[in-house]
Parts: sequence; C-alpha cells; structure tokens
Amino acid sequence: MKWTAKAQMAQVLSHMPRGRQVHAWMQRHVTKTLPMPEQDFRDRCRIAERHLTSLRQHFGADRLGALTLLEFGAGWDLIVPQVFFGAGVNRQLLFDLHRLCDPPLVRNAAGRLQAAAAGQAISQARPLPAWPGSFDAYLEALGITYNAPADARQTGLAADSIDAVTTSLVLEHVPPDAIASIYREMHRVLRPDGIMCSSIDMSDHFSHSDSTITPWNFLQLPERAWQRVNADLIYQNRLRGFEHLALIADAGFEVLLAEERVNGTRAAFDAVQPAFVAPFNAMSPEQLMPTQVYVVARRAV
Ligand SMILES: C[S@@+](CC[C@H](N)C(=O)[O-])C[C@H]1O[C@@H](n2cnc3c(N)ncnc32)[C@H](O)[C@@H]1O
Repeated sequence: MKWTAKAQMAQVLSHMPRGRQVHAWMQRHVTKTLPMPEQDFRDRCRIAERHLTSLRQHFGADRLGALTLLEFGAGWDLIVPQVFFGAGVNRQLLFDLHRLCDPPLVRNAAGRLQAAAAGQAISQARPLPAWPGSFDAYLEALGITYNAPADARQTGLAADSIDAVTTSLVLEHVPPDAIASIYREMHRVLRPDGIMCSSIDMSDHFSHSDSTITPWNFLQLPERAWQRVNADLIYQNRLRGFEHLALIADAGFEVLLAEERVNGTRAAFDAVQPAFVAPFNAMSPEQLMPTQVYVVARRAV
C-alpha cells in the first residue's frame, strides 16, 4: 500500500470518534495484520528470547522464576509475556496506555507458541497452561497482572519493587518528552541493580508496507510536513539510536549494552541520504543508518 494513502487514512481515523476501535477492526478484517502475520510473530519471539538472554546473563540462568518483571506497551496478543512464562517467569506486571489486549488474539498466540515450541522454533521450559474458563483465569495461571488503560509514566507501584523492565517495539511510538518520563518512572520502580531491556525499531514504519520507500524515508521530510502525515494513531518519533541512549542515561541508568542493526544496504542508504533534512543532515551515516537498537541498562546500586 502506498505510504501516503496509509498516512491519510490514519489521520482520518485519528480524528474520528471511536477511531481506535475502527482501526482495530480494519487490522483484523482489511489489512489482516491481526492476528500477527508469521514474520511479525517470529520477530516478537526473537525479541522475547533476546530479553530472556539478557535476564539470564544479569541475574543467573536459574533465577527467572524468582523475578518480578514489568513490561510496558503490552499490545494485542501478549506474545512476549507468554514466551516469558514458558521460560519459567512466574510474576509479570503489564502496563498499556490502551486496552488493546484481546482474549481471542492471546489464545491464538498461545496456540502458535505451542506449535513453535513443538517444532523447536522457540525454547520452552514448560508448556503454556490449557485455556481455562475465562481470560482472567488464563492471565492468573501465567502469573500476569494486566493493567490497562495504564500509563507507564505513572505506574503507582512502590519504589524498588521490580527486578527487570522489558519493552518491545514501543519506544519508537512514544514522543521524546513522554519517553523521558517513562524512563524516570522505570528508574524509580526498579530495585538497585535491576535492569531495563528495550527493543526499538527506528525504521520508518511506512516502509514495512510500502516497498517503494526505504527505512530512512521519513528523514527526508521537514518537521512540519512530517507532523502532517504522522497521525496520532500510528505515531512514530524519528529518534536515532544515540538519542535513545542519551535519554536512558539522562534518567540515571548505566547503559550495559547497545546493539544496533541495519535493515538495508549501504547503497540504498547512500542513494537517499543527500535528501535528508535538518536535523538529520547534520548527523553521520553511523548515527543515521541503524534501523534497530537493543539496549540493556542498569539502575546503579
Ligand atoms: C506498537 S505497540 C507494541 C505492542 C507489543 N509490545 C508488541 O510488540 O506487539 C505499542 C504499544 O505501546 C503502548 N504505549 C504507548 N505509550 C505508552 C505508555 N505511555 N504507557 C504504556 N503503554 C504505552 C501502546 O498502547 C501500544 O500497545
């Protein structure tokens, strides 16, 4: 789909009463992006496994069952929290600004995760529980408390009460000032030596469904033009990896790991870079090119 058409449609929905519900209906019945297409499902599994590797490295491989985790921006189908349960995590607090989580989608994801584990596409220490009578009972069996609508900027949790925070494909959708507030709150609720693991996709998301543009397309739009197409419903910031790291450090975290990846070729980047506008035209290719960053940051003791 041409990205400009998608942007226009999202703008219309963003200004419509019940636009969020209409968008959710379209994701299921028109664009068919819910339940997640196979590639998106696999991406979530990979991110969950990456978070688990970080948790095992930091706390010890046999400590997963003793940790209290917080995931913000939980989304529709709880793929990541269900993978965590399968790995042995017993207690998870989820926060989402919108109540997107939908029992049939969660159940669909559970079935796909069981099939993926059977085919050894993901590792699982224990199976997911059979679907009980209700969604609430399923979440309880997983040790999950789902809070939504609930803002990660203000969780209401006690200070020092969380061992680790995870977040997956969320921070690229949050305005920078709200990111700063979320990080301050995560720093407050994390216990000393607790960690925050963030997987961030910095590509222009319009390029995911329009193969005629590159992952850096949005860096060519002046701020005013970008604001006109960047609809609330599918908001993206244009922060680069080094800016995300600066926000994390500003909140008092020590960055333990920052893994950047580039989804695209150098030739494709070089072809579009001359058209980049301010402030991106003052940044280096090393700062601009990465399309994903995975960060582990620690709350100092
Ligand atoms: C693109 S979705 C990602 C969902 C899920 N993590 C996944 O990978 O499928 C971004 C999510 O972040 C949530 N979100 C955005 N700002 C938030 C905030 N301040 N507090 C909690 N959740 C937030 C949105 O409601 C949405 O569910």
